[in-house]
Amino acid sequence: MSAVANTKAFTPSDIRSRKDGTPLVYLTAYTTPVARLVDSHCDVVLVGDSVGMVLHGLPTTLGVTLDMMIMHGMAVRRGLERALMVVDMPFGSYEESPEQAFRSAARVMAETGCAAVKLEGGEAMAETIRFLTGRGVPIMGHVGLMPQAVNTFGGYRVQGRGEDGDRIRGDALAVAEAGAFAVVLEKVPEALARRITGELAIPTIGIGASAACDGQILVVDDMLGIFSDFRPKFVKRYAELGGIAEAAIAAYAQEVRDRRFPADEHLFGDAPRTVNGGEST
Ligand code: KIV
Repeated sequence: MSAVANTKAFTPSDIRSRKDGTPLVYLTAYTTPVARLVDSHCDVVLVGDSVGMVLHGLPTTLGVTLDMMIMHGMAVRRGLERALMVVDMPFGSYEESPEQAFRSAARVMAETGCAAVKLEGGEAMAETIRFLTGRGVPIMGHVGLMPQAVNTFGGYRVQGRGEDGDRIRGDALAVAEAGAFAVVLEKVPEALARRITGELAIPTIGIGASAACDGQILVVDDMLGIFSDFRPKFVKRYAELGGIAEAAIAAYAQEVRDRRFPADEHLFGDAPRTVNGGEST
C-alpha cells in the first residue's frame, strides 16, 4: 500500500533553513490522536523507534521492526497536516550497506508518506547518508548517545566527556557533510553541544544536550508523564497524565463494583427517546 506525502507540510529544507532562527520544536508521536494533538505546536514530528519501549513494552529499541515503524508511521500520517513527519529507521534495517538502507527507506517513505527518515550513526554511517540523500531520501542524523548501540556503550551513558568530545564532534560533522538536513545530539555535555552547534551548518536538535542546540526533542509520553519505566534526567514532565489516568480507572472500577455505573443517563429504554431535538436510541 502506498501513502501520499503531505505537500502542505514543512519540508526538510524548511527545517534546514531554520539554523540560528527560533528554536525548532520536535516531539515524537506513534498514533493518530497524539499526532493530531502535537501537529499545530511542532515543526517536526518523529515516529521514533522509542515506540518499542513506550508502546510495546520492549526492554530496548533493538526489537523494533520495519513493519512496526511503517504501521505507526501510517497512523501518524493520518493525524498530521502541518508538521514535517520523520520516521526512524529501526536497528538492522540500514547498517549493512547503503543499498539495504535505500531499500528500507524507500519502503518507509512509500508506505507511510513521510518526507524524511532518521538513522543513528556518525562517521560509520556517512557513506550511507550520502548515498540516500543523493537518491531522494532526506536524512536526519542522530549522534552522541545512540540507543540502538546500547550494548556497545554498556548502558545509556553521557557521551563525549573530556577527550571523547572529539569523537562526537567528528560524528556530527560527518553527518552534516554527508548531506543530513538536521542532526539529533543525545545526552552530551552542554559545552560540547554548544561547540558542535556553532560549527555545523545544519540545525542540531538536543535531547539531554542543553538549550545551546538549535531545537529540542522529547518523547511525548515522557513529557506527559504517561511513560515512567525509564526516567532520564533530561526529561521535564509537563504533566502527570499517568496519575490522572490511573485515578480515573480506579474510580471506574469502584463504581462498577458498587453498581453505580452505568447510571440512568447511560441506559437505553424500550422506546427511543428524543434528546435536544435529535433521536437517542
Ligand atoms: O526514538 C526516538 O524517540 C528518538 C528521539 C528521542 C530522538 O530517537
